[in-house]
Amino acid sequence: MQRIKSIQEVRKELEFVKSAGKKIALVPTMGFLHEGHLSLIDKAQEIADFIVVSVYVNPTQFGLSEDFNGYPKDFERDATLCEERGVHLVFEPSNEVMYPDNFSTYVEEDKLSSVMCGVSRPTHFKGVTTIIMKLFNIIQPDFAVFGNKDMQQVAVIRKMVHDLNLNLQVVTSPTVREPDGLAMSSRNIRLDEPKRIAALNIYRAMSEGRKLVNKGFLNSDRVIAEVIHQMSTTRILRVIYVSIVDRDTMEPMREVVEGRSVLCVAAWVEQVRLIDNLEF
Ligand code: PAF
Repeated sequence: MQRIKSIQEVRKELEFVKSAGKKIALVPTMGFLHEGHLSLIDKAQEIADFIVVSVYVNPTQFGLSEDFNGYPKDFERDATLCEERGVHLVFEPSNEVMYPDNFSTYVEEDKLSSVMCGVSRPTHFKGVTTIIMKLFNIIQPDFAVFGNKDMQQVAVIRKMVHDLNLNLQVVTSPTVREPDGLAMSSRNIRLDEPKRIAALNIYRAMSEGRKLVNKGFLNSDRVIAEVIHQMSTTRILRVIYVSIVDRDTMEPMREVVEGRSVLCVAAWVEQVRLIDNLEF
């Protein structure tokens, strides 16, 4: 497995791969890999011949009050995990490589990005679409693999790929959960025991919403109210939003439609911001 930091070098390497007729899959990450990321790598292995994982903590997707410097990092462990999983190349650029002085061009999707997480993190998706566009241009993958845990991010990236006629396929993989239901996230490292117990209520509350739908209660307000009620029983869990939206457009849906609606939740557990979702 190769570890490359420079854009020129990664381009040169991938030229060989492409000229050999191999299909390339990119798994973009911010590192501190967990089983969720590894499942994306496994998905990439199913569909492509050459797997590139990018490890880059992208500063432009963090708001001013968000803890960019405190984001967990462990590049050596990430590289070992990638190697064990059969990754061919890890691209790990520096900030100077990705955002040189005088950088001033951004990519912005302004519809799907404006709801849910876009309300409280108004610059977040602009940072995501900009870095993903740059990675797509550098790697030129045939496939890009993302986790459904970040459902809104996936929808925004799909929209960018569609609107800007990018020549690649966005592939998604289901959320990986701890045995108790907590969605895997690099942020979970910041949850001590009481916070972890509180965080578990997100999945528990969403599951109660699922039960209501199973019983035939399809009115979104009714389901949302139940999910908020379930979460509000935990003192250190603060709800940011609970929405039922169309999985492609991110538009709110008045009624749950199986196969189309998704229940999206964001909540604070003290200083840790967690998101999760459940597809109906
Ligand atoms: O989901 C993430 O880890 C990041 O938002 C991504 C897609 C790697 C862009 O920095």
